[in-house]
Amino acid sequence: MNPMAPALQNVDVGVSSILLWGVLPYVVLAIVIGGTIWRYKYDQFGWTTRSSQLYESRILRIASPLFHFGILAVLAGHIMGLFIPSSWTEAVGMTEGMYHFLALSIGTIAGVGTLLGIVLLVWRRRTTGPVFMATTKNDKFMYVMLLAALLTGLATTVISVLDHGVPDYRQTVSPWFRSIWIFQPDVAAMAAAGPSFKLHALWAMALFAIWPFTRLVHAFTAPVHYLFRPYIVYRSRDRGSSSHLAPVRRGWEPVGTQDRVRGTTKAPTGRSRAGRH
Ligand code: HEM
Repeated sequence: MNPMAPALQNVDVGVSSILLWGVLPYVVLAIVIGGTIWRYKYDQFGWTTRSSQLYESRILRIASPLFHFGILAVLAGHIMGLFIPSSWTEAVGMTEGMYHFLALSIGTIAGVGTLLGIVLLVWRRRTTGPVFMATTKNDKFMYVMLLAALLTGLATTVISVLDHGVPDYRQTVSPWFRSIWIFQPDVAAMAAAGPSFKLHALWAMALFAIWPFTRLVHAFTAPVHYLFRPYIVYRSRDRGSSSHLAPVRRGWEPVGTQDRVRGTTKAPTGRSRAGRH
């Protein structure tokens, strides 16, 4: 029990609360860990974003970073709000008022940006023929779950601003969230949270439970090495005469293969290109 939280006094912890906040989180954790291992073992070739960039890139170029940077900022906000106790932020001189102002302003910008990004991504998927054809039922279900998690999250913020009677999530949701990781679930703390927070947490758990079985699995293996790998060279089809071709600029030292020799340039062996036909 959290001694700092007045909201926790006289909380009725029934069987449903124990099941939802004391048992369900561990069921979800087991599904996430087990499902991820299963997917890795049996579907490594399916472990992909199934990128649709080849079909359409104009909208994607805006929508994808908007969504991905937005969701990273939302994640950073959740780590701050759920893992860091209010006593710690107060100890470094940040009052509750300052904390909530920051969380509200930055969190809302991040949340709305993410929402705008996902709305654009879904709209692009629906209106670009080939992208829509490459969309599976699994994708559609995943988009609904993701959108609902975002919308319920934003709703918690709006409701807390409008209704000052809603218990502070830093005294209810956050202690519960931290207690899960030390295997002593503080069911009473979460039972005292406002209904909007309960709905959001349930939806988030549902999203986590489907995570390993959807395209979202790519988040576990963010392709950071893309930033550092050498360029991939796409060559145009040879149209007979290659004298019009501009000199090829390369991103790294070319290896000495014959097919890099174009036009009148001699191959390393001394034979001309035509001589190889
Ligand atoms: C069990 C997991 C989660 C818990 C306990 C949780 C809890 C919370 C809490 C307490 C807030 C209010 C923050 C504030 O008003 O300052 C919030 C807001 C929000 N949540 Fe979650 N959340 C979880 C997972 C998720 C997931 C998976 C998503 C998105 C996919 C998400 C998206 C949002 C959004 C968009 C907001 C609005 C504020 C912001 O942009 O940060 N949450 N969440």
